Amino acid sequence: MQGFLVSLEGIDGCGKSTQARLLQERLERENIPHLLTREPGGTPAGEMIRRLLLQEAPALAINAEILLYMAARAELVETVIRPALAAGKVVICDRYIDSTVAYQGYGSGGDCAWIRALNERVTQDCRPRLTFLFDLPVEEALRRRGGSGDRIEERDLSYHRRVRQGYLALAAAEPERIMLIDAAAPAERQHEAVWMKLCSLGGWHGL
Ligand code: TYD
Repeated sequence: MQGFLVSLEGIDGCGKSTQARLLQERLERENIPHLLTREPGGTPAGEMIRRLLLQEAPALAINAEILLYMAARAELVETVIRPALAAGKVVICDRYIDSTVAYQGYGSGGDCAWIRALNERVTQDCRPRLTFLFDLPVEEALRRRGGSGDRIEERDLSYHRRVRQGYLALAAAEPERIMLIDAAAPAERQHEAVWMKLCSLGGWHGL
């Protein structure tokens, strides 16, 4: 049986990781074979690239940054996502292709067309069937993050505002794939919206 890829997206502090955990627990309870992974990361090499990007590297040229995110993605797709989908699992990816368009494209001014082309190349048949975008005003997200963070989280409010606008533009362009979730709502209510949407789609086992 073919698996099913779901990605979770949103600005830093939107509560996406809580939603990933709630979804994982739900799949567990329902006995649906699944896998939760994240980007950048999810593989040994990907986690090294994550440290490089978010903690250790000196400031990078934007194209170098884009290619490092793509390298981590290529590794994750080949060694984790494609095999899990082939095994019939529901794969939940905490950040995926849209993060690079939103952050490096809209946020940092990288070439969105190039990012899209690279995304196509590295993901091939592993496109998300569904993407949940947890949307929150940047001021509220900053408040939730509590100030300190990694290199990207430390960027200024206007940067995060551009990232949010980028995400909203992506959702407007692909409404059939990207579902907007109000991340200001209680976590349980957000989770129910995610679950109802997944249940409304045919073709995945157990539902
Ligand atoms: P995140 O997934 O939110 O992890 P944590 O919950 O540990 O903060 O953070 C990863 C960071 O990586 C986030 O600030 C966004 C950034 N990122 C990009 O800029 N581009 C990308 O393509 C991806 C996948 C992530």
